[in-house]
Amino acid sequence: MSTQPSIENISTILVIGAGTMGRQIAMTAALAGYSTIIQDISEDGLEAARTELEEWAAGRVGKGKLEQSAATSALAALSYSTDLDTAAAHADYIIEAATERLDIKTAIFEKLGVLAPAHAILATNSSTLGSSKVAQVTGRPAQVCNMHFFNPALVMKCVEVVRHESTSDATVEITMELARRLGKEPVLINREIPGFIANRLMGAIQKEALYLADAGIASIDDIDTTARTALGHPMGPFALMDMVGLDVIDFIAQATYAETGLEEDAPNPGIAALVAEGKLGRKTGAGFYNYN
Ligand code: 3HC
Repeated sequence: MSTQPSIENISTILVIGAGTMGRQIAMTAALAGYSTIIQDISEDGLEAARTELEEWAAGRVGKGKLEQSAATSALAALSYSTDLDTAAAHADYIIEAATERLDIKTAIFEKLGVLAPAHAILATNSSTLGSSKVAQVTGRPAQVCNMHFFNPALVMKCVEVVRHESTSDATVEITMELARRLGKEPVLINREIPGFIANRLMGAIQKEALYLADAGIASIDDIDTTARTALGHPMGPFALMDMVGLDVIDFIAQATYAETGLEEDAPNPGIAALVAEGKLGRKTGAGFYNYN
C-alpha cells in the first residue's frame, strides 16, 4: 500500500473512545461501509457502546428507517478492542474521541505516530483542543487535523474540519471527502480558534440565555420556548446544554478562557455549581431540568 494518504486507501477506521461521541461516530462509519474499530481502555465502556448501538440499530429497523440487512452489515463491520497498539496498526484513518485532556490526547497521538501505518491520517474530534497541540509528537504533523462531529453524531450533518499551520492540503481534502462519504456536510476552518464555528455560535446564544435567566428576566423554560418558537431552533439553549452535558459545557468554557483570557469567556458560575453537585444534564437525570 502507498505510504501517501489517499481516500481510496481508507478501508479501516479506528475510533478511539467509546463515549457518547465515539460510539456514534463509529456507527456512522460502519453504516457507510467502513470496517470500524472502537477502542477504549474500559471494557465496561465498550460493552455500553455495543449495547447502545445494537439497541439503536434494532430501533431504526423497527421504525422502518433502516433495512435489516444494512443494520446487520453495520453491526458486523464494528469491532471492539481495549488494545490500542493492535487497533492502530490496522487503521487507515484514526479519529480520536477520548477524554478532553491534553495529557491523555498527547500520549495517544505519540503512540499513534509510532503505531499507525505511514499513510494513516490522525484526526481528533476535540472541540476545544486544536490539533496543533498534538501534531508534533506524531512525527507526521501534516497528517493531523481536527474532525469535529456534533451530538448526536448519528443525526447531525455538520463536521468541522480544522487545519493547523502544518496540515497538508491532502489531509484536508481526504478528511472533507471522508466526511461526505460518511453522509455528512463538512465545513472547513482555515485557522485554529477556540470553539471553531459551531461552539462559538452556540456559546454566544448560551451566554445571552444565561444572562437573561440569571437576571431574572425570564425563566429557563420560557427562554427555551422562545428559541424554539421564535427562532426555529430544534431545542432551546438550556435543553441543549443538558443534552451536551454541563461538564462538557463547563470544560469548553474553561479551555476557551485559558486560551483567550477574556472576561467574556469566563466559565459561568451557575454551571460550575451544577457540575459540582453532580448535575451534568440528561446523562445524570438532572441539570437545568429534571429528567426523572
Ligand atoms: N442518538 C441517535 N439518534 C437520535 C438521538 C440520539 N441521542 N436523539 C434523537 N435521535 C434521532 C431520532 O431517532 C430521530 O430520528 P428519525 O427522525 O429519523 O426517526 C431524530 O433524531 C429526531 O429525534 P426526535 O424526534 O426524538 O426529537 P427531535 O426532533 O427534537 O430531534 C435532536 C432531536 C436531533 C437532538 C434535535 O433536537 C436537535 O437537532 N437538537 C440540537 C442538537 C445540537 O445542537 N447538537 C449540537 C450540540 S454541540 C456539539 O455537539 C459540539 C460539542 O463539541 C459540544
